[in-house]
Amino acid sequence: RRTFLALAGGAGAAAGLAGCTPLIGSPEEGKVMIFSLNQTTDHPSYAALNAWNDDLAAVTGERWGIDVYANATLGGQQEVVMLVGDGAVDMAVISGTALENLNPDYRTMNLPGVFDGIDHQVAVTNNLAIMGELYSSLEESHGITVVGMFTQGARNLYTTAPVETPEQLSGMRIRVQESDVAIDMINAMGGAATPMPYGEVYTALQSGILDGAENNEVSYVTQRHLEVARHYTLTAHQVGLDFIVVHSGLLAGMRPADAEAFRASWLRASANHTQLWKDETAAATEQMLAEGVTIHEIDRTPFVERLQPVAERYLTSDVARSLYERIRQEA
Ligand code: GCU
Repeated sequence: RRTFLALAGGAGAAAGLAGCTPLIGSPEEGKVMIFSLNQTTDHPSYAALNAWNDDLAAVTGERWGIDVYANATLGGQQEVVMLVGDGAVDMAVISGTALENLNPDYRTMNLPGVFDGIDHQVAVTNNLAIMGELYSSLEESHGITVVGMFTQGARNLYTTAPVETPEQLSGMRIRVQESDVAIDMINAMGGAATPMPYGEVYTALQSGILDGAENNEVSYVTQRHLEVARHYTLTAHQVGLDFIVVHSGLLAGMRPADAEAFRASWLRASANHTQLWKDETAAATEQMLAEGVTIHEIDRTPFVERLQPVAERYLTSDVARSLYERIRQEA
């Protein structure tokens, strides 16, 4: 117990982590896992992860836990996913778009129209009969296993000037995540997609390098992008997701009873996050209105029509198409 608490509270410097992560005895016995998150401590994923740590500790006799490093202090998602593969970082929240670059089948999970909404997405992604193969597909090649996902809710456009139609978006430089699907979606919607890491968006909007970006209400508010792009348009072009990834060797080394407790604890964390997400999305919308953002409720049809061919373009492999169809059966 003493060891767990001491380690759980310890905030090691990011630079010193590689190769000397704290272990309690052998990995099979337990570990306070170093966990990377690129969000602020106001974001619901931070709260949900800390609650998960408490639960995990309670059900494993305080032998397992997670120590969450927020604000991307361990690196941006593209770097961190590699650190998890190496085992220098144990776990992380990684946007679905970042896994596309490692296995193109992951694109299916990021396509417009694949999920009807949050509840559909959560049910599908916790169903290992549907997801199991994809979640273990990076184990041999990259040392990464996916545990499940936290929803990102609907992603919407936000811009420095009002946008209600694809024509108004024409020529605007819109920041997207570093993924082919994300680039294609914004280009199809009429914008000029500009891939860029999350942490650079505020400054780029402020300095006029960008005319806008796209994200959910929670990120728009917690990253303070609402200060520098004052128009928020409800395009809901994607129901985004964040995968929870773990170093495969670590998971494989868990005692079977601990692995079972870890899974059950994860499912509680997932349910808790989903509720927090819905509450915080409503709170973020209130915050946007209180801070004078213009929220544009639009007829989504012209955007939806432009997005349809993007989904089609990525459903060429048998794996991608059958996964897509299986997910749609659950809608
Ligand atoms: C959301 C998502 C992050 C992602 C970010 C982005 O905030 O939860 O995981 O990094 O969008 O647009 O890059």
